[in-house]
Amino acid sequence: MNCKKCTIKAVIGLPRHNAAFCKACFNEFVLEQVTRAIKGERMFGRDDRILVAVSGGKDSLALWDILLKLGYKADALYVDLGIPGYSTKSREKAQRFADGVARTHEAKLLIHKVEEEEGAGIRELADLIHRPTCSTCGTIKRYQFNRAAVEQHYDVMATGHNLDDEASRLLGNVLHWQEEYLDKQGPSLPASVEGFAKKVKPLYRLSEREVAAYSVLNRIDYIVDECPMAKGSKMLLYKDVLNRLETESPGTKQAFYCGFLEKQARAPRQGSGQAQPAPASMAEKDRATLHPCATCSQPTTAEICSYCKMMARAKAGSTR
Ligand code: AMP
Ligand code: FES
Ligand code: ZN
Repeated sequence: MNCKKCTIKAVIGLPRHNAAFCKACFNEFVLEQVTRAIKGERMFGRDDRILVAVSGGKDSLALWDILLKLGYKADALYVDLGIPGYSTKSREKAQRFADGVARTHEAKLLIHKVEEEEGAGIRELADLIHRPTCSTCGTIKRYQFNRAAVEQHYDVMATGHNLDDEASRLLGNVLHWQEEYLDKQGPSLPASVEGFAKKVKPLYRLSEREVAAYSVLNRIDYIVDECPMAKGSKMLLYKDVLNRLETESPGTKQAFYCGFLEKQARAPRQGSGQAQPAPASMAEKDRATLHPCATCSQPTTAEICSYCKMMARAKAGSTR
């Protein structure tokens, strides 16, 4: 198998693109796909300050690496969730990248420790409020990402979600007809109201396998283990189903997710009969109902935001 571009020996085959690449041409392909995502979805520009959420895993560290290589101003945030063993290991990976590649680009890593801020790690917090660890974790991460980006004046918050993440999430939303979530799903969500950071997913055009190959070929030292709490999750099942379809018919994942994005962009805005991207109508809805949380000042539709409610319940639980 030879490289489609330069004909030397290929290191990776990409059936969905009917192509194979050597290391240099594969790296070029990856950078092109990310550039296409950034420009096509108007994610950010050269002067914008980007905050990359890094988990220590392959996707987010690859994203930080790619953005720095492309010359963007990108710092990173690691949220230490206090998961015994896993958090220490993943934080070390993020720190190692920050001390190496990122330092040569003068980029810095911010670390937020949930245990220091809230007095307990997510497992304990989830127990105290009787909620599954993963959903507690999701609320905490979303809150931490947004607060850090807004308080430290970043223009945009970037996560390492790849094509497999987005396609499996879409499958879950379609299977359960979660229309509200479908409305909000996309690679670029604008800062709908004051206090909400713009959120982007520049790896959405690359599959998990492609991002893993990029990380290995470029010697990015990442945590290979999945979070121990993710075992048996629905998302892993949906990913598995999509991978089986992909093996049978290469290109299925991309056709599914990108087809959704095209339809979403053409969808008429309710009542207007005009074509409008869904996030614009969401922004209007949000603006009408959001106001600052009485406890932390982050935007919320209720008097107290879901994060502060959660923490109040955890505190009440721990003093019982
Ligand atoms: P996940 O929800 O674990 O699939 O992660 C999706 C994305 O969220 C990753 O690619 C990261 O950008 C970000 N992320 C996940 N966990 C963390 C963390 N502990 N700290 C910072 N960013 C994270
Ligand atoms: Fe959140 Fe595993 S990373 S529960
Ligand atoms: Zn709050």
